[in-house]
Amino acid sequence: MKFTRHQMQKNKVNLTEELAESLPQIDGHSGQLQQVFTNLILNAVQAMPDGGTLKVASRIGEDAKTVQISFTDTGVGISEKDLDKIFEPFFTSKKVGEGTGLGLSVSYGLIKNHGGEIKVGSRVGQGTTFTVILPVAGGGVAIQSRDEKELTTSG
Ligand SMILES: Nc1ncnc2c1ncn2[C@@H]1O[C@H](COP(=O)(O)OP(=O)(O)OP(=O)(O)O)[C@@H](O)[C@H]1O
Ligand SMILES: [Mg+2]
Repeated sequence: MKFTRHQMQKNKVNLTEELAESLPQIDGHSGQLQQVFTNLILNAVQAMPDGGTLKVASRIGEDAKTVQISFTDTGVGISEKDLDKIFEPFFTSKKVGEGTGLGLSVSYGLIKNHGGEIKVGSRVGQGTTFTVILPVAGGGVAIQSRDEKELTTSG
């Protein structure tokens, strides 16, 4: 968010943060995750040419085995037809010279390499949410409860 603040201000984008106070640890490559988050934020800013709101939220997944980071914009949205294509390399709706269409395909690959996934929901004219889902280090609750069992059985 620090790296994109200037871009947001220039484009009259308000930032709302709903970050979890504490989150379980994940195993991640910080440089790669920064690249993914930067791309999602810049995509959101570019989808709001007349300004808008970007909400960044983090939370623990329902099963406590994942951490989820979502980016919700109030931008142009993505048609159902395009939703199938946005993760393909070189798919872009931007003008020549403005986008290469590599951001999402690279981001998707990086998150897959983390054992995670990226989900998207969108409504044309209303906005879009991208959610990055990353596995909790050590498998989360399942492993913890197994350790607890071992502790109780071993005495
Ligand atoms: N938040 C968003 N709102 C609306 N459309 C989006 C959003 N994010 C991505 N898209 C659509 O998906 C396309 C592909 O995004 P991607 O990041 O892969 O490439 P790009 O932004 O066009 O170019 P690059 O990231 O390589 O500069 C975009 O051109 C746009 O059509
Ligand atoms: Mg992009």
